[in-house]
Amino acid sequence: MDQIRIIGGKPLNGEIPISGAKNAALPLMAASLLTEGTLSLSNLPHLADISSMAHLLGELGVEISMNGAAPSGGNMGRVLDLTASRISETTAPYDLVRKMRASVLVLGPLLARVGEARVSLPGGCAIGTRPVDLHLKALEQLGAEIELAEGYVNAQAPKGLKGGHVVFPMVTVGGTENILMAAVLADGETVIGNAAREPEVADLANCLVAMGAKIEGIGTDTLKVEGVDALGGADYAVLPDRIETGSYAVAAAITGGELYLKGTRAELIESVIELLGRAGVTFVEETDGIRVSRTNGPLKGVDLMTEPFPGFPTDMQAQFMTLMAVSEGASMVTETIFENRFMHVPELCRMGADINVHGASAIIRGVGALSGAPVMATDLRASVSLILAGLAAQGETVVNRVYHLDRGYERLEEKLAGCGAAIERAAE
Ligand code: EPZ
Repeated sequence: MDQIRIIGGKPLNGEIPISGAKNAALPLMAASLLTEGTLSLSNLPHLADISSMAHLLGELGVEISMNGAAPSGGNMGRVLDLTASRISETTAPYDLVRKMRASVLVLGPLLARVGEARVSLPGGCAIGTRPVDLHLKALEQLGAEIELAEGYVNAQAPKGLKGGHVVFPMVTVGGTENILMAAVLADGETVIGNAAREPEVADLANCLVAMGAKIEGIGTDTLKVEGVDALGGADYAVLPDRIETGSYAVAAAITGGELYLKGTRAELIESVIELLGRAGVTFVEETDGIRVSRTNGPLKGVDLMTEPFPGFPTDMQAQFMTLMAVSEGASMVTETIFENRFMHVPELCRMGADINVHGASAIIRGVGALSGAPVMATDLRASVSLILAGLAAQGETVVNRVYHLDRGYERLEEKLAGCGAAIERAAE
């Protein structure tokens, strides 16, 4: 197993290309199940989760071919052609789903296209129990018959799905995506209330429209879908990764440097920009990216609560907490989306951070400096928060179990080393 070694204390300066968003790419790939035509996705990041989704879709009968790098000078993104001329299999097996929860996103498209799907229940994960009950209830409202047996969801729609009115009792990104993909081929109109407004949901909706779907209200909390008989292929570029953008913004801030984050957009991370701005970080939006710097003075502690978009993203909470650990004064971080997303706290404390967790909130008292230590990654965003801590710490930090990072950060050590970080990957 690989580990990442970092000698901290070097300000980062330079340019980092931002990759396509993993959490947009995964549902977009699943959308290929909805058509016989070819869905050509560009700006796809090269990540373990993308390979897992390609593997699953391959098992279901989707033909996938790499079509080179992105045209028009994209940020190293790849182009994949996905063609589901025939669905040969409708089961997403436990072995694949347990590796990647987003596998559950094949449920809606399979039901819509062929009227049946058998998908392993994902089970809990490091950050919470993460049930899929809301996905299933919503699909039932479109006429799906669903049974749970032997750890699998068995879903049938023998007469096809029918449009309906779905109101989610809480905001769910994956639930909104699954029901949206089901509704585009259902008979009649579907209204999705309290829909997730995350940019990745809008990216999926825009791609579905490019494939011939009829969707109104994209980017709002009410999506109106008029079902169509069939969708066609399309060429679509995945939006930039807002969480990768935010993570590297914290890297610039925590090392007292300046980074140009190329290929990303400020509108995707306004809540992050607002909060980091209050902490003392400067953002300037330029033609094809964002310049982030913290060159004048220390950082200040500020409070934060995670919320669905457009609120502060839970996927940036761990990185923000690392920044607060070395800021002046105290700050409070409250996590409202997942019940167990403070796994990075004990590891940060081993590096000298002063953090106390009380239920869903953590009080962070800023310390002058962190010290390097061997630490263990527990999930994707916790891993990157430890990398950020290592960049700021005095001495050497060794982050173990970096396979978590490889699920969501493309060429992380190469991007950071290119801006002056002393970072390398080594075999454990
Ligand atoms: C997506 O997960 C992201 N994953 C997560 O990114 C992200 O943290 C999360 O949205 C919130 O923004 C992908 O897009 C692949 P939810 P998802 O359904 O869709 C509860 C990362 O690090 N819930 O919006 O699974 C759930 O337990 C990851 O890249 C139910 O109770 O998240 C959670 O508390 C991790 N029942 C809350 O809703 C359900 O049926 C929000 O989850 C569905 C969700």
